[in-house]
Amino acid sequence: MSKKIAVIGGDGIGPEVVAEGVKVLEALAELRGWDLDLLPFELGADRYLRDGTTFPREVADTIASECDAVLLGALGDPRVPDMAHARDILFGLRFGLDLYCNVRPIVCLHDSLMPLKKWRAADCDFVVFRENTEGIYVGVGGQFKKGTPDEIAIQEDINSRKGVERIIRAAFEHARQAGAKTVHMADKHNAMPHAHELWLRCFQEVAEEYPGIEARHVFVDAMCLFMVQDPSQFEVVVTCNLFGDILTDLGAALQGGMGMAASGNVNPGKVSMFEPVHGSAPPLAGKDVANPLATILTVGMLLTHLGFEGEEARLTALVREAIETGHCTAEVGGRLGTRATGDWIVERLRQTA
Ligand code: IPM
Ligand code: MN
Repeated sequence: MSKKIAVIGGDGIGPEVVAEGVKVLEALAELRGWDLDLLPFELGADRYLRDGTTFPREVADTIASECDAVLLGALGDPRVPDMAHARDILFGLRFGLDLYCNVRPIVCLHDSLMPLKKWRAADCDFVVFRENTEGIYVGVGGQFKKGTPDEIAIQEDINSRKGVERIIRAAFEHARQAGAKTVHMADKHNAMPHAHELWLRCFQEVAEEYPGIEARHVFVDAMCLFMVQDPSQFEVVVTCNLFGDILTDLGAALQGGMGMAASGNVNPGKVSMFEPVHGSAPPLAGKDVANPLATILTVGMLLTHLGFEGEEARLTALVREAIETGHCTAEVGGRLGTRATGDWIVERLRQTA
């Protein structure tokens, strides 16, 4: 199998964690005899400040026509306070490739990472399907009388029938494949009767196609409460773009922090993009302290998407072992730097090949 993967390190700790993800990919390619072609793109704040480039059309075209997947680090730099380059690149990929499923597993891999005193790691094991191409993220709106006492700002929340239906269907399809018994849909139709009545109606309609799976509605504010009170009740959760963004940071806390949260931006069967959920963490950059495990888990998701069966489960098991044995960074209880953590995972891959 020959596969081409675009690699964008981005800003801050992005290039450092992506380097560890690349190490893992290269080691696996060598061990398994895969033909993997990694194609790096220098995009991010440095490039933007140097020549104004954010996300050129040629790069978008190359990715869409030649690549099978994208591995992205993180975007965001204090020298670009309005995040203009970050939005162009991140939304260029998400919207440009129509990556409508933002798949974010909320899995706590080890008891030592579980922050809730009543629960164990095994009790936190679900996945959020976040709508990724619509909602409040589309940038429709405007400002009027800016800078005056009468100024107003409008940010529209766009929800299309097609967009809502396809993410809900993707969540149910995943539930069916994973053998899940429930799908929760988190919305706010009590306060947003136009947009989220559509969500609720779509949810009920799509649920009828999946008779073995119980469809449960939950208001998103209550969802925050329930995630902390009892995360064990969730298997598959589907929600809109903004709520998915917020719920998955809360979810990351249940996983042991942002350094453990992986994600895929997926259009099933098409070129898709994979990124750790964490940001660029500028104060940590260049110090060899960033946790690369979210990126390594993300590489697992990427490999599943490319059809390399079993690798995601193996990488997840090694990440759990890294936590168990302290072969990880300090904030998850370990004693290693970024690079040594990646090296340890690669060494264990070689030993267990
Ligand atoms: C995320 C991030 C982005 C988002 C930001 C950087 C625009 O928080 O991937 O969760 O809100 O989607
Ligand atoms: Mn976020």
